[in-house]
Amino acid sequence: MDSFEFNKIAAAVLVTILLVIGVKEIGNIIFHVEKPKQSAYKIEGVEVAQTASTEVKKVEVELPKITPLLASADIEAGKNVFKKCAGCHSVDKGGANKIGPAMWGVVNRKVGSHEGFKYSSTLQNYGKNWTFEELNGFLNNPMKYLKGTKMAFAGLRKDSDRANVIAYLNSQSDSPAPLK
Ligand code: HEC
Repeated sequence: MDSFEFNKIAAAVLVTILLVIGVKEIGNIIFHVEKPKQSAYKIEGVEVAQTASTEVKKVEVELPKITPLLASADIEAGKNVFKKCAGCHSVDKGGANKIGPAMWGVVNRKVGSHEGFKYSSTLQNYGKNWTFEELNGFLNNPMKYLKGTKMAFAGLRKDSDRANVIAYLNSQSDSPAPLK
């Protein structure tokens, strides 16, 4: 077998593997499609991966608004979800900054504004407040929503998890916002 033929076979095998991964990990591929320059799947010379993921992109659905889900959100369940965050964030009143900024009163707080925490320039310069919908987008996929954030957390893909944890965060405040 000459090396040209070998390359053809190798390419065919690679393409098959990529397609299988593509089907299995649709979520990941959607993530990568939007930032193809940073794709973790980038392999020199394999154009097919790009084509495959472009086709999958059509599957993507827009993130639903969280506000309608908050009225029926479960604050206790949100407290439980927050265990995933607690390694990096305190949530109690007067709590200290840890790996991430303190969460007491974070709802409607200006993004990147907690005293004494050294934020990424992304958060520092964002200029918005942590409304329910901003939290929804960020917590779904932090590194995609605010590219350059140093919050190394994959995100909460379940709508109910985000609704519950946002309702919980809202409750951890001197002046919780109305949920409906
Ligand atoms: C591995 C540590 C880590 C985990 C886990 C983590 N975070 Fe973070 N979080 C951070 C860091 C670091 C920042 C600061 C990001 C920056 O400056 O870009 C941050 C920032 C935030 C902010 C912005 C706060 C502000 O003052 O602007 C919110 C809101 C937030 N995290 C919520 C959560 C929630 C809710 C969870 C759990 C579902 C969570 N985080 C899990 C590390 C983490």
